[in-house]
Amino acid sequence: MTVPIIIAIDEGTTNAKAVCITQNGEIIAKGSVSLTISHPKAAWSEQDPNEIITAVSSAIDQALAQIPNADVKAIGISNQRESILVWERATGKAITPLVSWQCRRSAPFCETLAKSDNASRVQIKSGLPIDPLFPAAKLRYMLDNLTDGMSRAESGELCAGTVDTWLAWNLSGKQTFCTDVSNASRTQLFNIYTQSWDDELLAVFGIPKACLPNIMPSSGHRGETLGFDNLADGIPLLSQIGDSHAALYGQGGFSPGAIKTTYGTGSSLMTPIAELSQSTDFSLGRTVAWNDGALSYALEGNITHTGAGVGFMSKLLGISDLSEFSNLAASTKNNDGVYFVPALSGLGAPHWNSKSRGLITGLTDNSSPAILARAALEAIVFQVADVFYLMEKMGGVKLDTLLVDGGPTRNHWLMKLQANLLQKTVIRSLTEELSAMGAGYLAGRALGWWSSREQLASLKRDIEIIEPTSKQSDLINSYAGWKEAVERTLYKTN
Ligand code: G3P
Repeated sequence: MTVPIIIAIDEGTTNAKAVCITQNGEIIAKGSVSLTISHPKAAWSEQDPNEIITAVSSAIDQALAQIPNADVKAIGISNQRESILVWERATGKAITPLVSWQCRRSAPFCETLAKSDNASRVQIKSGLPIDPLFPAAKLRYMLDNLTDGMSRAESGELCAGTVDTWLAWNLSGKQTFCTDVSNASRTQLFNIYTQSWDDELLAVFGIPKACLPNIMPSSGHRGETLGFDNLADGIPLLSQIGDSHAALYGQGGFSPGAIKTTYGTGSSLMTPIAELSQSTDFSLGRTVAWNDGALSYALEGNITHTGAGVGFMSKLLGISDLSEFSNLAASTKNNDGVYFVPALSGLGAPHWNSKSRGLITGLTDNSSPAILARAALEAIVFQVADVFYLMEKMGGVKLDTLLVDGGPTRNHWLMKLQANLLQKTVIRSLTEELSAMGAGYLAGRALGWWSSREQLASLKRDIEIIEPTSKQSDLINSYAGWKEAVERTLYKTN
């Protein structure tokens, strides 16, 4: 007997993964291949687009090898967002590296734009603050630095796309050139009100529309496999969605009042909103969450360094074992007034201050490695709290629980600290592949496996509930100290 499955790909910055999902919503096989990232200059980050395709193919092979009688009904894609590359339409050959979301090469362009008369129109239409994170300015840099880049893009000879588009293109034997609304809404070229590439945004960034993909809903038929390594031809490609959005969908956080944090190198908080506000405060991004038949919007806060701040401190202290690092931090009663603001390449949400640099405040003769380890871990929960409180205020909906996912959530001490600081229940997903689940759910919606969000919400989920301990006054009082430390870190123009 064959086993009907959906293959959900989760192409992230550090790993390409593939999981096989059944109609019960269970993951029955997984594959994962690690990826390299290079830094050709300070603050530049790149990946090899061909390595990504090979890694995805191997991850799929690994997963399928575990189910000899698999009947692959569909493929869904979740991906790292805001990373972009350029390839030739005729040959399908990548002619730039994948310029990573982490790359700051477009900082000078963004600084000029932020001071210009166009700044507020760009933010209003795209819903995003002006920051080198977003692909529009990166793409401008890339086209300016390719031989005849701009004219070849104008004539349609070149294709520019985020990772979901690159994957769909390769999986479909160059037949499918499309992205979805969630990925498009992170480019800063997409008008979140009209859900289309916006002529004014394209003009401000100097990007020809001819090189951009079609925009599709997150769920629905967009092509079929053709000549992709070991996969059979004709498997429908039924979803594309940015990984952070996919994790929220995978958590079942469909409605306002739900909020999730994905913890990783950085962290992303996202909460669905009923409608777009007209506020001119862009400290949180406004974004399309997904279109699964109905369009949903969300607020998002991207924190640049959370796990990465811990990585930095662990290197500084010479402790490579992260559980040893965490035990050391947990051996302290409180932070003794020491704060570490990990603005190692600037601060993202809610400050968007790309020139600020990391700072340790409050050091005394008594400050120990344990206190510094604690400061690095507390920086995660403080930064998440900064965004959480702002989301509650800007979203106008009381947030009672925090859904969490990502590797660092395995650290129970850290999650308890988060619950205690917020005085909210933290609900941790025990499914590690939530982004893949989200992409799988969206493909399954198009396949007719699940007809509604309600049906998805009723699927069994493995979770751990972490309740706050009542009033942790030391920790809660120290939040004021964190705010002061951030204030001292911010780069002020005058
Ligand atoms: O916004 C960037 C984010 O999508 C990257 O995700 O999983 O590769 O760290 P990840």
